[in-house]
Amino acid sequence: MNYTGGKFRLLGQILPLFPKKIDTFVDLFCGGCNVGVNVVADQVIFNDINTHLLCLYDAFRNLGSKLVLSMIDEIIADYNLSRSTDKGYDFYGCDSSNGLSKYNQKPYLELRNDYNYKNKNYNNYIMLYVLIVYAFNNQIRFNSKNEFNLPVGKRDFNNKMKSKLIDFVDRISENNFSFTNLNFRIFDVSTLTNSSLVYCDPPYLITCATYNENDGWNEQSECDLQKFLDDLHTHGIKFSLSNVLSTKGRTNVLLAEWSKKYLVFHLNHSYANSNYQIKNKNNVTDEILVVNYQD
Ligand SMILES: C[S@@+](CC[C@H](N)C(=O)[O-])C[C@H]1O[C@@H](n2cnc3c(N)ncnc32)[C@H](O)[C@@H]1O
Repeated sequence: MNYTGGKFRLLGQILPLFPKKIDTFVDLFCGGCNVGVNVVADQVIFNDINTHLLCLYDAFRNLGSKLVLSMIDEIIADYNLSRSTDKGYDFYGCDSSNGLSKYNQKPYLELRNDYNYKNKNYNNYIMLYVLIVYAFNNQIRFNSKNEFNLPVGKRDFNNKMKSKLIDFVDRISENNFSFTNLNFRIFDVSTLTNSSLVYCDPPYLITCATYNENDGWNEQSECDLQKFLDDLHTHGIKFSLSNVLSTKGRTNVLLAEWSKKYLVFHLNHSYANSNYQIKNKNNVTDEILVVNYQD
């Protein structure tokens, strides 16, 4: 899944830092599930507080990739959204650098309107998925009235996205994967052992994302998570925390202090974002992985 803050590009650096043998892997802030679906473990539990996301995964698992794809095709065709892979950008009067937003604006708003206010004969979550695909930067954002409120984006359901979706739906449908929709504070760790790993990729205190909006993540959340991780450590359960220590001249002071107790790996952020040019030292993002084990 394309997901804001997704760890796909950092997997090559993160996965080798996990323990060699994991019985239960918990992806506690799973978002687009990029880490959990790529890890080797006996079982994986995905958790996120975002109910829309968890219901979408539930729909994917219940329907299976074949049915999901045919439902997506039907919605795209009914709303006359673009299919650039089949017809090319010229057909829609658009080009690849400016993207397809000019053409998709009208059908996208119609789909968004129907999703928000009407009871159409489509699976609600597949409608949501199509919205995410055609939305600005493939993001998910709902306002306080629970209305999906992102503007149209530049891209469409191209072949790359299609094959990634098939892989994703097939993978999350495997038997050893389960999903929970909880605030991390109440996630039950009582069945975990000293061969389990709790991986945390929370919203970052010093960066912006849709899930940080409306006080979605604040200093209290940061402290509660640190306490949660300290408790895991006390009980001999391994954890691994992704985070940003500093960026654009800002430092997460709470994290800097707390992480001194554990092992900190500094990941190569500029390598992970190949377009990113480090022109100014203040622009360097110090992306880290904090772990409480040596394996
Ligand atoms: C940085 S994203 C995770 C990205 C994910 N690792 C990936 O690779 O796609 C952070 C996630 O934390 C979730 N989240 C925010 N507050 C939470 C909470 N209190 N408990 C559980 N999940 C939460 C957000 O909904 C968001 O999906």
